[in-house]
Amino acid sequence: MKKIIVTGGAGYIGSHTVVELQQAGFEVIIIDNLSNSRVEVISGIEKITGIRPHFENLDCLDYIGLDKLLKKHEGVDAIIHFAASKAVGESVEKPLLYYRNNLVSLMNLLELMPVHGIKNIVFSSSCTVYGQPDELPVSENAPIKPALSPYGNTKQVCEEIIRDTLHASKSMKAVLLRYFNPIGAHPSALIGELPNGVPNNLVPFITQTAIGLRKQLSVFGNDYNTPDGSCIRDYINVVDLAKAHVTAMKRMLDNKCEESVEVFNLGTGRGLSVLEIIDIFQKVNGVEVPHKIVGRRDGDIEKVWANPERANKVLGWTAVESIEDTLRSAWTWEKRLAEERIK
Ligand code: UD1
Repeated sequence: MKKIIVTGGAGYIGSHTVVELQQAGFEVIIIDNLSNSRVEVISGIEKITGIRPHFENLDCLDYIGLDKLLKKHEGVDAIIHFAASKAVGESVEKPLLYYRNNLVSLMNLLELMPVHGIKNIVFSSSCTVYGQPDELPVSENAPIKPALSPYGNTKQVCEEIIRDTLHASKSMKAVLLRYFNPIGAHPSALIGELPNGVPNNLVPFITQTAIGLRKQLSVFGNDYNTPDGSCIRDYINVVDLAKAHVTAMKRMLDNKCEESVEVFNLGTGRGLSVLEIIDIFQKVNGVEVPHKIVGRRDGDIEKVWANPERANKVLGWTAVESIEDTLRSAWTWEKRLAEERIK
């Protein structure tokens, strides 16, 4: 059985990926410091898959701890590195926290991989590296634009650190996965997104407003150069996204990668506006989302959606879940969280 370390495996995308990896027959070791997740997620994963993943409560900034852990779990085949800070606004307030967390964690892993004979890494990157692309849909060879936030910059610099490290070490391989906007929850409603405090992202804010935790959703701008004036994104189902990691992992471990660093966009190829998302959410769930138009949010990109052709053809992965089912899953998950609060 192939052994995979998933850093940030208790987090939103991480936990869904652990489920898919276990269901595909991989043995998983989660490393997570629970800074933006809860330990109960591990039980959720166990309930879905029937397997409790190994769980190590550790911060990837802890080099000595990581070294010990890799010694303990000798024979790891690959690492999927999710563990990172991800709030754009917070990164503007606390840039050094973001640079330290996101860069040093990655550097620790890259340094320790050869020491422990680990050759493969999948890195959790973002479409934020494209900024506002000149051409849409955006493909992997689009130019990298100057980052609009320290968070965005950490993703760019991490990609460069990986490229430079792999250039120097011929035996290692990396896959960089650039996510568009992951949303929704596992259909079992046993795992999903657990935002810390007031959500920054659109869909958790919608679900929390619909359930009554928030009074009103603010739509950040309706004066963009888009059909309805609100921003456009490529919203991708989190389970679809998780499955792409399994496909990428198999490609790496089967030695099918054509280059030492491969890059894939993970999106649906379809752009939807903020107002369209609200509308579809309300229709499919039969619930109202009180909202009002407010001013633009600083640093927001007007429109971006993926050209996922490379992932479709080379990786053999395609996003299949509909936006309707995805927004249904987000609502089912929010209702499940509400039941837990009542208990
Ligand atoms: C951004 C980054 C993404 C990063 C993510 C982390 C881009 C293109 N994307 O996502 O790489 O991983 O942050 O959090 O830079 N909106 C509202 N009201 C709200 C919340 C959001 O109108 O209360 C709108 C936003 O203006 C935006 C859309 O909803 O148009 C999506 O926003 P959000 O979910 O925060 O994701 P991004 O900003 O696209």
